[in-house]
Amino acid sequence: MNIPSSALSRRSFLLTTAGAAAGAVVAHAADAPPAPTGPFKLDPLPFAFDALEPHIDAKTMEIHHGKHHQAYVTKLNEAVAGQAGIGDVKTLISEISKAPEKAQMAVRNHGGGHFNHTLFWSLMAKPGAAGVGGAAGGKIGAALEKSFGSFKAFQEKFADAGMKRFGSGWAWLVAKPDGSLAISSTANQDNPLMKGIVADADLGSPILGLDVWEHAYYLKFQSKRADYITAWWNVVNWSHVDELLGAAVK
Ligand SMILES: [Fe+2]
Repeated sequence: MNIPSSALSRRSFLLTTAGAAAGAVVAHAADAPPAPTGPFKLDPLPFAFDALEPHIDAKTMEIHHGKHHQAYVTKLNEAVAGQAGIGDVKTLISEISKAPEKAQMAVRNHGGGHFNHTLFWSLMAKPGAAGVGGAAGGKIGAALEKSFGSFKAFQEKFADAGMKRFGSGWAWLVAKPDGSLAISSTANQDNPLMKGIVADADLGSPILGLDVWEHAYYLKFQSKRADYITAWWNVVNWSHVDELLGAAVK
């Protein structure tokens, strides 16, 4: 698959988070996952499996996307089967209390998993490309300096959030409505959109997320989460983070 990552990553994220119905998503290439059996589907990665080498290995990406993310989609579809009026996944996970009670835990876990991973893929791109890796520029670079003092201080605090997450979960950079930025961490597949699930103080728009589940790094880094985080900075798509900041703060 040879698709311009910046264009497709933005499209993929917007399609999934802005209310796209299953039928609105483009057809897949030959390596497409199985046909959807519910309202949600797995989009292809916005880059080839080996695009993030040598920092994130191809086999990890193939399993992470094709097995783990697919499983979240499949189980989310099972959870909402037969329900009318299912909206987009962002709305669904933001208002879990509105889902049928028996489906709420599945929506939290698998809806969260689907949203988080779709976002995660869009936040990475080929190392060395413009706006990828290194220190953030643009509005996001300025906002990070303003909120954390320096880009380095932000990186240290964000990595610390990922390191201190016990077990499985995510580290987040969250944009608040007033334009300020905050770092937080959630367990499992929770995220900062989940009202009533995460603390009110941690709610906001996630504009950068780091998956610290072992399935994200174990093949290459074994138990060395710190090494994975250090490598991951090389593939962060700051151009897209900048776009997400702009969309979150009007
Ligand atoms: Fe993951």
